[in-house]
Amino acid sequence: MKIISVVGARPNFMKIAPFIKAIQKYNQLKPDDPIIHILVHTGQHYDIRMSSAFFLTLNIPDPDINLEIGSGTHSEQVGNTMIEFEKVLVQENPDWVVLVGDVNATLACSITAKKMNVKVCHIEAGLRSGDLRMPEEINRLVTDRLSDLLLTPDELSYQNLLTEGTSESRISFVGNIMIDTLEANKDKASFLTLDEIVNDNLLDKYNFIGHVPKENSYAVVTLHRPSNVDERKIFESLVLFLLEEVTKDMQLIWPVHPRAKKQLYSFGLWEKVTLHPGIILLEPLGYHEMLRLNMGARLMLTDSGGLQEECCVLGTPCLTLRWNTERPITLREFGGASILVGNNVTRIREEYYNTLKLRRKPQCPPLWDGKTAERCLKEIINRS
Ligand code: UD1
Repeated sequence: MKIISVVGARPNFMKIAPFIKAIQKYNQLKPDDPIIHILVHTGQHYDIRMSSAFFLTLNIPDPDINLEIGSGTHSEQVGNTMIEFEKVLVQENPDWVVLVGDVNATLACSITAKKMNVKVCHIEAGLRSGDLRMPEEINRLVTDRLSDLLLTPDELSYQNLLTEGTSESRISFVGNIMIDTLEANKDKASFLTLDEIVNDNLLDKYNFIGHVPKENSYAVVTLHRPSNVDERKIFESLVLFLLEEVTKDMQLIWPVHPRAKKQLYSFGLWEKVTLHPGIILLEPLGYHEMLRLNMGARLMLTDSGGLQEECCVLGTPCLTLRWNTERPITLREFGGASILVGNNVTRIREEYYNTLKLRRKPQCPPLWDGKTAERCLKEIINRS
């Protein structure tokens, strides 16, 4: 059997790492009939810190093929990926294309594979925010509609697929593959110190005037969604809330995504943020560094779906700066650690003060047990 798996952007890397390990383990047990695996990187994320650093630390083999798509509008990214991925499929003729998550690579490669009659497996299927203004929601809907095998992270997403009319024979509930990576790396992350994380990753080391916070006395911030960072009024009000209010209670550590960095400059906020003693701006962090910060944080403020899940398992109280989520299982009403606060400062402030009273409370939804990748591979083999 020949499998091509595809990654494109940062949140894909921690999902593909355990899947590749599961293939390697299978091949050790079955050396006479190994799975041929080809890893394709579309190149949507290309900075060292957004991409190759993850391959190194998560022991992902170098991609066999890099399509080098890079930045662009959504149509450019998707169109260029389709053109290049079609050539890969003609050359390699795989039995399966395996896709993870909801980025532009996921969408582009699902369409290309199905048009060439190649079977598609989607890992992390069935997540729905219901918000079609999110590019990721369009990517999820199309990929799930086209996939032959839909592997869901939780029972709610299984139910979403059934509600949409997906035949039960195409779906399997396997658990959350990201948690395989978290479980495999928790110990290693715990050896890192806050001092080394901060000092090794400062975004602007010449203007650093803060101090490294103590355990459980800081908040971590991440922002990258266009809905939060692309509009001046919204982004500025969020930044001012962080600077003028949250820093009164605790220090902030903010690993800055390239999109947010660009907007801090273009909205004239860069100096205000970098010169504030209560906030530490870092480069985009490696997997272990981010995990370690999360493990010691008093609070997380984020618009990332992946961090929402990691906060759930680690129990870090989390304010999710979005109006909706495709991952409701991580919310407090389902026993998780996160609450949706959108991007209106009045609402954020109210929930911020409520959240300050909360303690860390780890929660493990069913099958978030570190063994999802093996179940994914088993499902593919059973249907081959
Ligand atoms: C993408 C994903 C999103 C995911 C996020 C995590 C889609 C639709 N979105 O959004 O689901 O949560 O990644 O990071 O696929 N840039 C760099 N260096 C890089 C990569 C990007 O400077 O290595 C710049 C680009 O020039 C661009 C901006 O960052 O202007 C955004 O990159 P892009 O790939 O368009 O989407 P993300 O916002 O990262």
